[in-house]
Amino acid sequence: MTDITTRVRDVLPAVRADLENLVRIESVWADPDRRGEVQRSAEEVAKLLSEAGFGDVRIVAEGGAPAVIAHHPPPPGAPTVLLYAHHDVQPEGDRSQWYSEPFEPTERDGRLYGRGTADDKAGIATHLAAFRAHGGNPPVGVTVFVEGEEESGSPSLSRLLAAHRDALAADVIVIADSDNWSTEVPSLTVSLRGLADCIVEVATLDHGLHSGMWGGVVPDALSVLVRLLASLHDDEGNVAVDGLHESTAAPVEYTPERVRADTGLLDGVQEIGSGSVAQRLWAKPAITVVGIDTTPIAKASNTLTPCARAKVSMRVAPGGDAAEHLAALTRHLEQHTPWGAQVTVTPGDVGEPYAIDPSGPVYDAARAAFRQAWGNDAIDAGVGGSIPFIAAFASAFPDAKILVTGVEDPDTQAHSINESLHLGVLERAATAEALLLDRLARSDRQIAT
Ligand code: BES
Ligand code: MN
Ligand code: MN
Repeated sequence: MTDITTRVRDVLPAVRADLENLVRIESVWADPDRRGEVQRSAEEVAKLLSEAGFGDVRIVAEGGAPAVIAHHPPPPGAPTVLLYAHHDVQPEGDRSQWYSEPFEPTERDGRLYGRGTADDKAGIATHLAAFRAHGGNPPVGVTVFVEGEEESGSPSLSRLLAAHRDALAADVIVIADSDNWSTEVPSLTVSLRGLADCIVEVATLDHGLHSGMWGGVVPDALSVLVRLLASLHDDEGNVAVDGLHESTAAPVEYTPERVRADTGLLDGVQEIGSGSVAQRLWAKPAITVVGIDTTPIAKASNTLTPCARAKVSMRVAPGGDAAEHLAALTRHLEQHTPWGAQVTVTPGDVGEPYAIDPSGPVYDAARAAFRQAWGNDAIDAGVGGSIPFIAAFASAFPDAKILVTGVEDPDTQAHSINESLHLGVLERAATAEALLLDRLARSDRQIAT
């Protein structure tokens, strides 16, 4: 019998063609005009899973985006593995900055460019490849769950979990939506930060005023807002909000050169914050101002702006509570607004962080599969990003072991322009997942205990 590595290689060209077709669908759930595309994307995912040999494939929704659940029953006594990915993608941003069309997958130098090629349609491709490499008949039960609103914070996921609890129950959950250490070295993601955001609005006047007549006596709202936003960090760039949680990152080294190379930091721009890079990225809170509504320069006249607002997004370290962090941020904003300006904080989304104890037979099986597929040991890595769904899943299925894998690498540029997938990483990730299914079948007795 051909070995699984060869079979993954054999199915990969067809999987890649299927991935390209998925990328051509503009499944941006956050854009109300493209919700039909998200539906089309769910239908395409369902079709691919049916054709791959899943007997039971359903498109489900609970007042939110359509998700796909496909199930292949376990052989007697074998465990069931849930394979997660999401089929929604981030908006493409400024199209003129893409080197090729965002929704037309294009290969350059071993990478496939296009929105969602990596985050996270490559996750779907990985699951398809692993299942097809097993000839549609793996030695374990497989449930594939492909969500459609991950990039919008999964607002209906808890309802989906409640409504389809039995269909989603599994012994092991594999979430293929994270990063790798490099294109040659895989990561086993062991922690993710949570998220909390809000909109802060400040007002100083009930209408604009001539800035020559009243400037110097009456504060403009934009100056108030920038002072308030500046109070969120100290001079070193550490978050200056009281009462936030900090945990401890794995002792993984990131050189300043690597930070520069991976981020494209411009000449002379310094890193912010104190502590190791891993500590700042994975184990400390971070605050980012992600948008401001105010008078655009083209419309700027000599007027004192009466009100202005900003969206502030915070990452929550593993072990922290997202709602408590949002409350702490709200208090800070209310207490640091200068000059008695009126301030209103409107709470936004919260998503919990998550940390995994990667010990025991399931993680041993994953490490062995990674080593075999990549030729390198996986690094236990945290990530700074968030997958709030994990905490929800972990509390719905407390006995399930959660494995966070992924098909991204440091050059992927997820959420940004020119997102891309490294095609070698897709092959290695798919091989590792196919091998993992074998290993989980073999180590079943240990998993059950
Ligand atoms: N795939 C990412 C999560 C991720 C980011 C994993 C970086 C590993 C490294 C996911 O699609 C994502 O973007 N999540 C959002 C969650 C939010 C919309 C609730 C995020 O982190 O901003
Ligand atoms: Mn993702
Ligand atoms: Mn994402």
